[in-house]
Amino acid sequence: MSRIATNSQRRIAAIAFAVLLTAGTAMAHEGATGVVAQRMDLMKQMGQHMKALGAMLAGKTAFDQETARRLAETMHQHCEHVMHMFPPGSDGHHTEATEAVWDRRPEFDVRMRSFDAAVEDLVAAAASGEKTQLQSEFKRVGQECSGCHDGFRQKK
Ligand code: HEC
Repeated sequence: MSRIATNSQRRIAAIAFAVLLTAGTAMAHEGATGVVAQRMDLMKQMGQHMKALGAMLAGKTAFDQETARRLAETMHQHCEHVMHMFPPGSDGHHTEATEAVWDRRPEFDVRMRSFDAAVEDLVAAAASGEKTQLQSEFKRVGQECSGCHDGFRQKK
């Protein structure tokens, strides 16, 4: 196998790295309970799925379509759950969510739906096994993650 990474692989690696940095603060809030702890856990797991998928797409680990499909589908399930885990009043001091989640709710919901649509396309690309397609959907999902975090998650 060629050791020379393509530009596309390098970009994928950069996204995987950005997601990894996002996951870096995950230890910060052991005090969180209930729905806050649950959504943190799902987010954290999605971070791990993105990392595993990114490593495969960047050629750092062997590409396996079945694994890619499972990762994408699990992410989709998590996404469908997590979108219902920001009820009013779940904004205590353990959360990293900004007030904007509740103050600008329609915008947050739009972002969640657009994220969900991107993950659905990721699932479809993983099922087709079309790697180029999978790479571009992976990038799109990565942009949805950071696009939402920019306004709705506190920066540490
Ligand atoms: C529509 C908004 C939105 C999208 C899309 C989104 N997140 Fe989040 N994410 C949040 C919010 C808000 C928090 C803070 C949750 C809290 O602390 O209560 C968060 C927290 C996290 C955390 C920290 C979890 C912890 O342990 O505290 C990680 C990691 C994370 N997200 C990864 C991801 C990844 C990876 C994706 C994309 C696959 C993603 N997120 C998509 C809004 C989003």
